[in-house]
Amino acid sequence: MAQENDLSRRDLLKAAGAVTAVAAVIEGAPAIQKVKAANSQVQYGMIGTGSRGSYLLKHLKNIDSGRCVALCDIRQVALDRGVQTIGNNPQTYKDYHELLDRKDIDAVFVITPLFAHYPITRDVLLSGRHVFCEKCLVFKPDEVHSLRALANDRPKQILQTGLQRRYSTFYQTVKNMVDAGVLGNVHHIHAQWHRNMINKPSSLWTMKPGGPSNIENWRLYRQFSGGLTAELTSHQVDVSDWMFGSSPEFVMGLGSLDTLKDGRDVYDNIQLIYRYPNGRKMTYSSISTNQFLPYFNGQRPEMGEIIMGTEGTVQITVGDDVHLPVAWWYREPPKTTTVTPAAKKTTPFDAGATMVATGGANGPYPIMTGDLQMTGKESFLDREVKFARRWLYSKGVFEQEENRNPVDVELEGFFESCRTGKHPRADLEKGLADSVAVILSNLAMDEGRKVYFSEMEKMGTGAESVRKTE
Ligand SMILES: NC(=O)c1ccc[n+]([C@@H]2O[C@H](COP(=O)([O-])OP(=O)(O)OC[C@H]3O[C@@H](n4cnc5c(N)ncnc54)[C@H](O)[C@@H]3O)[C@@H](O)[C@H]2O)c1
Repeated sequence: MAQENDLSRRDLLKAAGAVTAVAAVIEGAPAIQKVKAANSQVQYGMIGTGSRGSYLLKHLKNIDSGRCVALCDIRQVALDRGVQTIGNNPQTYKDYHELLDRKDIDAVFVITPLFAHYPITRDVLLSGRHVFCEKCLVFKPDEVHSLRALANDRPKQILQTGLQRRYSTFYQTVKNMVDAGVLGNVHHIHAQWHRNMINKPSSLWTMKPGGPSNIENWRLYRQFSGGLTAELTSHQVDVSDWMFGSSPEFVMGLGSLDTLKDGRDVYDNIQLIYRYPNGRKMTYSSISTNQFLPYFNGQRPEMGEIIMGTEGTVQITVGDDVHLPVAWWYREPPKTTTVTPAAKKTTPFDAGATMVATGGANGPYPIMTGDLQMTGKESFLDREVKFARRWLYSKGVFEQEENRNPVDVELEGFFESCRTGKHPRADLEKGLADSVAVILSNLAMDEGRKVYFSEMEKMGTGAESVRKTE
């Protein structure tokens, strides 16, 4: 009922207070470092200045703690775009080995297609540099084992992977809500990333002339790419691993190519079920023919996650250059006490009737981070303004911006780690776990079977693959 969803100011304060409490324990995102001395800046190069590389350069341009000195791409057009974006005239290369030969580089961004992540990341590590490699960190089972061994041999070199949700204060708040039991026992997560590639084609997923021999088509062929699973699911299975605090035990799935039959050989729609320890599950869907997202009253398209516990639910999605991040919290119906026949004699209630333990609306409550949190130190006017903005937010009239774009936070965090040795949030093991999930999900769909995550221990090692059965 609309009335029940109507938040009173007291309810809002109570709800926001609880979330503010969990938000308060979030490790603070690194503040923007206004590095004055050039020699305290991390000097970096980037290999792969295509779509994502240029996007990152646009953000890197405004981050003082790093300085771009070299760019590399095998395509001149991408290289030119990179140089134009960063704007400080870095040296350019077509062969990444030449970039790695420079003596003045501390760190390297690897933003190439998935199949080229491992060989380049390996060479960067062997050259003694810190590395930021976009997701998915690796492509093949043998690369999982090789990169782990290589990186573990070089503990002083930072390895970070591009899982930016880990750097979002909205997602960190939700993780703290899960850990603090605010949502009760979280047994189920559902995530989707749906797109309508028929009505709204994406240049990255559109077949260009030349088929597999055109590097711009790399996403569309299995020899280079993990398809939708690698490009989209990877972000969300990482969220699910994070919320559940573990990797899945097994995955089952159905993938097929039904609509975008233009020569590509990756699936255009996938459905996956992951089982985690203690029977918890993540169900997942990515389709290419419809972009509707049934969260946030249908106000947002494409992607999001819904985290369901015995005491509450959170719907969440990350922001991008166009959309702001959103997180809504719903409470479950309050606990009820069944009145037993014995109790009936002494109570005025009917047998089987229920008593509501606590009352109140069940949401949605906007999850607040940053400047809408009540600190208790606000002036009267500031407090009233915050209440007003929160109320407008709860009505969908006002959108709250995440304090920082998580991409900026991840990039600044990387430079901070390079300078101080601080362990990155999206580290080697997070990146590898994510890659393993992608590899095994595709295997489950290709072979039409339940694939256990323990199978990865033998895969790619040369040892006979042992399939575990139930
Ligand atoms: N974190 C995110 O949200 C996010 C978003 C988009 C893409 N990505 C990831 O970023 C990576 C790149 O994706 P993209 O969309 O930029 O692809 P893209 O095709 O637009 O760009 C890749 C670039 O790498 C270049 N390249 C290929 N091989 C190379 C080599 N050996 N040396 C130098 N350059 C080489 C290509 O010429 C191209 O310009 C992928 O792994 C993708 O999954 C991450």
